[in-house]
Amino acid sequence: MASRKRSPHDFLFREELGHGSYSTVYKAIDKRNANKVYAIKVCSKAHIIQESKVKYVTIEKNTLNLLAKAKHPGIVKLYYTFHDQENLYFVLDFAAGGELLSLLHKYTKFNEVWARHFTVQLIDTLQYIHSQGVIHRDLKPENVLLDKEGRLMITDFGAAATFNSEQDSKGVSGSSSTSSFVGTAEYVSPELLLYNQCGFGSDVWALGCMIFQFIEGHPPFRGENELKTFEKIVALDYTWNSNNNSTTAVNTKSNPIIVNLVRRILTLDTKSRMSLKEIQLDVWFQNVDWNDKAEIWKGIWQ
Ligand code: ADE
Repeated sequence: MASRKRSPHDFLFREELGHGSYSTVYKAIDKRNANKVYAIKVCSKAHIIQESKVKYVTIEKNTLNLLAKAKHPGIVKLYYTFHDQENLYFVLDFAAGGELLSLLHKYTKFNEVWARHFTVQLIDTLQYIHSQGVIHRDLKPENVLLDKEGRLMITDFGAAATFNSEQDSKGVSGSSSTSSFVGTAEYVSPELLLYNQCGFGSDVWALGCMIFQFIEGHPPFRGENELKTFEKIVALDYTWNSNNNSTTAVNTKSNPIIVNLVRRILTLDTKSRMSLKEIQLDVWFQNVDWNDKAEIWKGIWQ
C-alpha cells in the first residue's frame, strides 16, 4: 500500500525538547510503531509570517531534504513534513543524548580524547555538508545534538546557504552577501562582520571556536554584549587559559598542538584559514584514519 501523507494525528506528542524563536521541538512516538521515537519541530504559521521567517523555514526544509539523501550519520534526518491550519511539522531524528552544549556544561570542559572525538565527527560531517554545496552558517554547540551512544548530529539548517558546487572550500564563495546578520554572535566569522560575506570558511571558523570551547569550556570571543563580542572577533582578541589565575597552585597549560591548530583556523584572512582537508592532516589527528568511517562514527559511551 502506498504510504499516505502523514499528519499530527499519527504521533503521540510527549515532552518539550527545546524551542527557538518561532518553533518548539517535542519528543513524539509513532502510533503505528511505538518503538519509533522522533523529535517533531512544530513551527507556528502565524508566527513565521509575523516574524518574516518564511525564508528560513523554506531553507531548512529544502536543505534537510537535500542532505537526507546520503544518510550521513552526522546530520539530523528529516523523515516527514506536513502541516495543518496552525502549524508546520518537521519529523526529525530524536537525539537521545541531547545538546552537546549541555554535556559540555555538565563536565565544564572536555578532556582531549572527547574533544578530538567530537572534532573528528564534526569535520567528517562538515566535509559532507560542504560537498553538497551547503554552508550551515550557524554552527555552535547548541546546534550539535547527540544520539544515545554519544555520536553527534548537526541540526538547525534554518540559516544555511546553498551553492551549486563546493567552489572554494577555503575562501568566501559565491555571491553570498547577506543583508541581515545570521548566526550567533560568539561564532560569527570576521568576514561576515567586516565584509558581509560568508563562505565555506565561515563554518570552519565556527569549528575553530568550538574546538577552543571544548578545551576551555567557553567560546574564545565573549563580550558583555554582542557589539563587544564582534569587536573581539575582528581584533582576534582571545586568550587560552583565561580561567587560570596566578593564585591557582596548578596552572595547566593548554596542549600546544591544539593551540597551534586553533590559531591557524581562527585567521581573519579567509585565504590563510585552514581548509577542512588541511585540518585533517594536522598532527592532532595523526592517529585518525579518515577513511575508516566505522571507527570515526563509534559512540563515546555505551
Ligand atoms: N532538541 C532539538 N532538536 C532535537 C532533536 N532532534 N532530538 C532531541 N532533542 C532535540
